[in-house]
Amino acid sequence: MLKVDDLRVTLRRGIEVVRGVSFSVRAGKVVSIVGESGSGKSMAVRAVMGLPPPMASLSGSILLNGEQLIGAPERRLKQLRGSKISMIFQDPMTALNPVVRVGELIAEAVRLHNPQMSARQAALRAIELLETVAVPQPDVRARQYSHQFSGGMRQRAMIAMAIANNPDVLIADEPTTALDVTVQAQIIEVLANLRRMFPVGLVLITHDLGVVAGVADTVVVMYAGKVVETGEVHDIFHNSRHPYTRGLLACLPDIEKKGGKLIPIPGNPPSLSTRPSGCPFRPRCPIARDICAHQEPPLRHVDRVETACHFAEELRSPGAPALQATGGHG
Ligand SMILES: Nc1ncnc2c1ncn2[C@@H]1O[C@H](COP(=O)(O)OP(=O)(O)O)[C@@H](O)[C@H]1O
Ligand code: SF4
Ligand SMILES: [Mg+2]
Repeated sequence: MLKVDDLRVTLRRGIEVVRGVSFSVRAGKVVSIVGESGSGKSMAVRAVMGLPPPMASLSGSILLNGEQLIGAPERRLKQLRGSKISMIFQDPMTALNPVVRVGELIAEAVRLHNPQMSARQAALRAIELLETVAVPQPDVRARQYSHQFSGGMRQRAMIAMAIANNPDVLIADEPTTALDVTVQAQIIEVLANLRRMFPVGLVLITHDLGVVAGVADTVVVMYAGKVVETGEVHDIFHNSRHPYTRGLLACLPDIEKKGGKLIPIPGNPPSLSTRPSGCPFRPRCPIARDICAHQEPPLRHVDRVETACHFAEELRSPGAPALQATGGHG
């Protein structure tokens, strides 16, 4: 239903923040986009929503149910947003109008795309939606204001608004980052459960691979505006061939507990102006060699995943000695 191909987003002064990203999501499936802050995850999905920053230019292809969204008129994108494709954001506080009751906010979202529906019907639908996202006492909650909601409850209300019209695709951009760990898990569960109620395809963005383990079908790992590795969730966790993914995995406390060595990724992602030549991960990569400075590795099939690393074949099982080597180019 959503198929993104070679998506590029270029900001003013020719700065490319998304550099050829491809992924797709089908009904009832979860695609997770992971990567550190600044890797272009939000830019990519804002482009998919038809909401790139002003003056940005887009290229590539974004097909929603076969319809090309790149170059589509704003009128059409507006129709699709909130009905066929919708998005929830990291911070529900800024997105929920504080002076309107939560039930009315949701009812407004319902009627925006169903103007024929009566106010009464929309109000009932709002309560039903709050129930869908597991808000206790939804009829009482519907009459409250967002400041009477906890962070987790607010995020549920946001999800209720986003699914008001049973979209085919729901994009969640770091929906749990601002919440504490227990609440994070609950929100992820609410999102994962939506698939059982209607055939939504979910794009879940996070900087935390641990979040995706239980719910994703496919994982897309982004670094410096590109996909550096992608595959089925099991293969990303067990057959990753990219030093960056391995680094993210090594940062998972769970793996640490199992006796593996904790190997955080030293250094920071490149800034846009100082992106190195060749492989963008090179300054932080424990197995980098000369070729990495000259040639950016393309994404290619290696065993069970697609990986962008010149030396993917060397990384076999997680924790392979090569990863623990030190002395990458600094
Ligand atoms: N409005 C903006 N104008 C210019 N650059 C931006 C803007 N927003 C983000 N960027 C830059 O674009 C890059 C990608 O950002 P973003 O997509 O937000 O990353 P992520 O969501 O993965 O953290 C970053 O380097 C960021 O600094
Ligand atoms: S291409 Fe080179 S620098 Fe990039 S991840 Fe692979 S080994 Fe490391
Ligand atoms: Mg972001």
